[in-house]
Amino acid sequence: MTERELGALVLAAGKGTRMKSELHKVLHPIAGRPMLMHLLEAVETAGATKTVIVVGAGREQVEAAVPTHEFALQDPPQGTGHAVLCAQPAFDGFSGDILITYGDVPLVTAETLGAMRGALASSDLVVLGFRPEDPTGYGRIRQTGDGQVEAIIEHLDANEDERQIGLCNSGLMAAKAEVLFDCLDEVGNDNAKGEYYLTDVVAVARGKGYSVAAVEADPDEVSGVNSRQQLAELEQVFQRRARVSAMENGATLLDPASVHFSFDTNIGSDVVVEPNVFFGPGVSVGDGAIIHGFSHLEGATLGAGAKVGPYVRLRPGADVGIDAKIGNFVEVKKAKVATGAKVNHLSYIGDATVGAGANIGAGTITCNYDGFSKSVTTIGEGAFVGSNSTLVAPVNIGDGAFVAGGSVVTKDVSADALGITRARQEEKTGWAARFRKLKGRKT
Ligand code: UD1
Ligand code: MG
Repeated sequence: MTERELGALVLAAGKGTRMKSELHKVLHPIAGRPMLMHLLEAVETAGATKTVIVVGAGREQVEAAVPTHEFALQDPPQGTGHAVLCAQPAFDGFSGDILITYGDVPLVTAETLGAMRGALASSDLVVLGFRPEDPTGYGRIRQTGDGQVEAIIEHLDANEDERQIGLCNSGLMAAKAEVLFDCLDEVGNDNAKGEYYLTDVVAVARGKGYSVAAVEADPDEVSGVNSRQQLAELEQVFQRRARVSAMENGATLLDPASVHFSFDTNIGSDVVVEPNVFFGPGVSVGDGAIIHGFSHLEGATLGAGAKVGPYVRLRPGADVGIDAKIGNFVEVKKAKVATGAKVNHLSYIGDATVGAGANIGAGTITCNYDGFSKSVTTIGEGAFVGSNSTLVAPVNIGDGAFVAGGSVVTKDVSADALGITRARQEEKTGWAARFRKLKGRKT
């Protein structure tokens, strides 16, 4: 049997007024990535080869965020059924299956979408249901004894008996394209909201003799975002999933609830993450690395066995080599710290390379910015930079070179040389004793 083509619709024409935001609702981030992107990834992983996003208010923002996608305009919005109709021209000549998703229900998994598609093998239309603790406000899925879905009744239109039904409509649907558009043509707007409800296609489909099945999902997967509180709840759903997946891949999280991941955090096996660690986007951690508590990482790569923190800040472009160490209160930006190198205390290393095995003393600062432009500091292999050194870029410290503590280095230091820029120390013999005597003290 050849597989039917899979298309997808993302409804995103709603205003999202309750977010109280200039930013379009579907562009609010979860784990550092717009919720729309989470959804599009799931839809594409499920096998969709054509995705149409239905936009209305704020469409410029959505179109700019995903410029390579196809859009349909719904203006003004007259309900979810109307939204799907607005996308019908984009599916002209399409004869596969269509997944209907909501831009503000971003955490549905590719597996669930796949299960909906799979159920189309024996049905014409599939609705995705879930059982929330409190079903108030949701459409209810009314089924006959054999599991066929008869109708979806919106909460406002439901009678007391129907409101007792626990299986609620997530809004997501899968349908054979020809069935969907055949039924949608007959959906009217004679209901409490005066809208064209997508959900009414179910009753129309049953009337025409089509079969309608329900697939059930975990409530977390189909929760929607209408407010900042719900956005925060979905953030937590994502974080729980990410923590479980990191642990399943062999990482130890000492206090999982205090570790915050990004959508793309990549953690190897035998990694230990201590409490209160934040991963911004673009972090990759090699096997066996240790991230001590209270560290903030973003756009950083850690080699196998690297040790960072506690209280470390790794900014974009920080590349910490195999077995390298970045200690407390150190900030690293756009800098490579090669294998086995150490920056253990209170330093800023930016726009720099630190060679393998080099040791950077406490309080070393690479002065990468002169108020106008950024310059690079290069520190060679095995170099030793004494504490409280100021390296004024552009500057090179050669392989194996020493920089004396407290130096302000403005010129290159050759390989194996000592660079020292501080004033020479003088010794004034007996000076302290004479001073005390002058002040009338014996000791
Ligand atoms: C919908 C379902 C309801 C389900 C609930 C789950 C209908 C009629 N009802 O209700 O059964 O329990 O979701 O959360 O479908 N949208 C458009 N154009 C429109 C209207 C909506 O694009 O004209 C988009 C919105 O941006 C949103 C989604 O469709 O992403 C859902 O719309 P919403 O108004 O939230 O539907 P509910 O009343 O919550
Ligand atoms: Mg809603």
